[in-house]
Formats: sequence, structure tokens, C-alpha cells
Amino acid sequence: MSFVTSHQEGSILTLTLDRPQALNALNGQVLEDLDEALNGVDRNTVRCLILTGAGDRAFAAGADIAAMANMTEDQAAAFSRRGNEVFRRLETFPLPTIAAVNGYALGGGCELAMACDIRLCSENAVFGQPEVTLGITPGFGGTQRLMRLVGMGKAKELIFSARNVKAPEALEMGLVNAVYAPEELLPAAKQLAARIARNAPIAVRACKAAMNEGTDLGMDEAMAAEVREFSGCFETEDQKRGMQGFLNKQKNIGFENK
Ligand code: COA
Repeated sequence: MSFVTSHQEGSILTLTLDRPQALNALNGQVLEDLDEALNGVDRNTVRCLILTGAGDRAFAAGADIAAMANMTEDQAAAFSRRGNEVFRRLETFPLPTIAAVNGYALGGGCELAMACDIRLCSENAVFGQPEVTLGITPGFGGTQRLMRLVGMGKAKELIFSARNVKAPEALEMGLVNAVYAPEELLPAAKQLAARIARNAPIAVRACKAAMNEGTDLGMDEAMAAEVREFSGCFETEDQKRGMQGFLNKQKNIGFENK
């Protein structure tokens, strides 16, 4: 039994957090199962990952409060370190990732969505970092990723006040890219994933690597990362196929991930 299920359709892999009785709250086992699910991704055939939550109420309602309640400082450090390790692995995973946020994304749930490349959500989604109401700080990247996504002032307001935001406000502040009716969320995520999957996989991964790396660098070093990723695409079969296809006025060029 795993708390994370995998389902591949063509080149799209959907990972589902599957602990609906606890609103998909993240305990140590869920983190390990997510890490294990990433180990199982076939990078030759999968071109885009979708991450969502089981049930119709939550993406994930946070780190598991029952599991954290009696932690010592050392245990809390290990839990935060492990969560950050797994989420960072997801953030830097060499495939594009889409969070399909189908309800509550609170605390660790919001942090998990932020570790994905793109966030889409349902109309009933609720985002927030309620940790200070529990006497703790966000511990799976929230103090770092929220400010990078929505700006320092807004991130501090949300984290200090623990105010939850509903889908329209999340859209307005750029925390999510689009909002859908609940039944349209997964189809929309799959449609976007399919569109991404049609493009040259090596190039898409190189874009992700350059953009992720560049966020934390000065402009000169960031440009060096771009040069490396750009030039790394040359001499791949897909670069030749893409450019020759354009020059020969071909439509719907299929790429081979080579
Ligand atoms: N950790 C552990 N269990 C959680 C949880 C969490 N973060 N979030 C929800 N659950 C559990 C509840 O304890 C409850 O379990 P029970 O049925 O065994 O009592 C079950 O999930 C359903 O949640 P419940 O609170 O009854 O649903 P609700 O509709 O009344 O409220 C929320 C939904 C999301 C508003 C509420 O569950 C909540 O505030 N959760 C915690 C959010 C949070 O602070 N996250 C950050 C943690 S650092």
C-alpha cells in the first residue's frame, strides 16, 4: 500500500496523493512514498508529471499535525529536512510538473504545489500557510518559495497572518495560473501536459533547468546557465528534426527524446 498512486496515460504520468481520510495530510510515509513514486518515473516515456490529491476536498491539508504534535526539536529538524529534500527533488526533477490543486492546499500542501512548475486549481481550492496558528513556521519550503512566487510583501502578509486565500485571489496574485470547475481541472491539466509533451523533451527539460538555476543567480551567471542549456540542445536528433522540419515546412513534427 502506498499513499501515492501512479497512473501513466501515454506520455503523461499522474501522481495522486492518496490519503483522503486525512485530507491527504503529509506524514513521513507520504513523503517516502512520493520519493519512491519519483524513483519509479520512466524518464524515457514520461514527458510531463501531474500531481493531484485523491478525493474532492483536498490536494493536501498540510503536514500531518498529529505526527508533529509531540516531536522534539531534533525530530522536527529531520522531518523538515526530509520534506524539503523530497520537495526540492520534485522542483528540480528533470521533467515538467503541473500541480492540479483540487481543494485545500494548506501548509505542506501549499508548499508541495509551489514545488511544482505550474499550478492549476479548482474553484473550491484554498491556499494558505496556517503554521503560525499552530506555533510553528512553514517547514517544507513555504518561507522561501511563496515570496519567490508572489513577492516578499504579499508572502509576509499571508504567512504572518495565516490568512487563507481562495482560488480567485490565488489567481490574481499569480500563485496559480488558471482556475477551473472541479470536473474540468484534471482534463485541463492533461490538456496542458499533452501540449507540453508534444514539444522536444530535451529542450523542455533544458528550459526548466535554466529557469530554476537562474532564479537564484546574478544575471551574468544566469546567462551562462542559459548558454549551457541552449548549446546542450544542439547536435541532438530532436534539434535537427525540429529545425529541418521548419525549413521543410513540415507540420506536427514528432520528437523522439534523443
Ligand atoms: N494533519 C493531520 N490530519 C489532518 C490534517 C493535517 N494537516 N488536516 C486534516 N486532517 C484530518 C482531520 O484531523 C480529520 O481527521 P478525523 O476525521 O480523523 O478527525 C480529517 O482530516 C478531516 O478534517 P476535518 O478538520 O474534520 O475537516 P474540515 O472540513 O472540518 O476542515 C480543514 C478542513 C482543511 C480546514 C481542516 O482540516 C484544517 O484546518 N486542517 C489543518 C490545516 C493546517 O493547519 N495545515 C498546516 C499544517 S502545518
